[in-house]
Amino acid sequence: MGARGGGMPAAARRGARGAARGARGARGTAGARGAAAAAAAGGSPLRVAIAGPPASGKGTQCETIIDTFQLVHVSAGDLLRAEVAGNTPNGVRAKGFMDAGKLVPNEVVVDIVKDRLEGDDARSAGWLLDGYPRSKEQADAITEAGIVPETFMLLEVPDDVLIDRVVGRRMDPETGKIYHLTFNPPPTEEVAERCTQRSDDTEEKARTRLEVYHTNIDAILDSYDGIIHRIDGNRAREAVFADIDSHIKGLRS
Ligand code: AP5
Repeated sequence: MGARGGGMPAAARRGARGAARGARGARGTAGARGAAAAAAAGGSPLRVAIAGPPASGKGTQCETIIDTFQLVHVSAGDLLRAEVAGNTPNGVRAKGFMDAGKLVPNEVVVDIVKDRLEGDDARSAGWLLDGYPRSKEQADAITEAGIVPETFMLLEVPDDVLIDRVVGRRMDPETGKIYHLTFNPPPTEEVAERCTQRSDDTEEKARTRLEVYHTNIDAILDSYDGIIHRIDGNRAREAVFADIDSHIKGLRS
């Protein structure tokens, strides 16, 4: 997709999405409402994981899931993009791997995600884990820390569809909302003008990301045997969410 970053550096574009999307959880508003919702329901906070290949719709569905269930969104990709944008030592280390479409080393990513999941807001309101684990070692690392999701939702979408989604994806740096030039265009010309494109959203890099995904997914699924919920992600966003919604509600019924 032709970059529309308005000259914004790539790291800042990626970071803007991370910051914008990460801010939803970091503000604590969703967390506080989620804690209240969990208390009112008399249940323990939800612990939900969502996985799937690149551009399968994880981020798109997470926007609706956190609004509906008031969970804290813990996105490994967004957390890493925020590190890159902040030029932190972890961000400097992660950047080359992300730009190449490869997995960031565990010594960088594991603690970042674990710390976020163990934050007060995530513990009290519940969490939605997105894009982690991406290897058996990452799954083992959180399991050993006592962090286990109640459900592991897997979005399934054919590879050729994913490539189309990757190259057409755009993100609004002000709201963090995800769009697609064809499937879900920005609502106004003003939003379209400020939308940006991720530097790893080329066909070539998407194919590397897909290969990494297919290499690792079976071992990850073995780690969550018994709690895997497969979802056909090759449908309209609303239909995919309807499936997710009834599945999550079913966890507490
Ligand atoms: P990350 O940011 O997590 O990227 P990803 O897994 O490749 O997933 P995407 O964000 O690309 O896609 P998505 O599934 O969220 O799809 P979206 O909703 O945007 O990770 C990036 C990088 O960070 C990795 O490559 C790696 O380097 C590093 N990293 C991250 N986690 C790591 C970890 N745990 N360990 C090591 N490294 C890690 O949708 C895509 C497009 O499709 C959008 O345009 C959207 O509008 C459209 N769309 C969505 N749903 C539909 C639908 N139903 N129909 C039609 N179009 C749709």
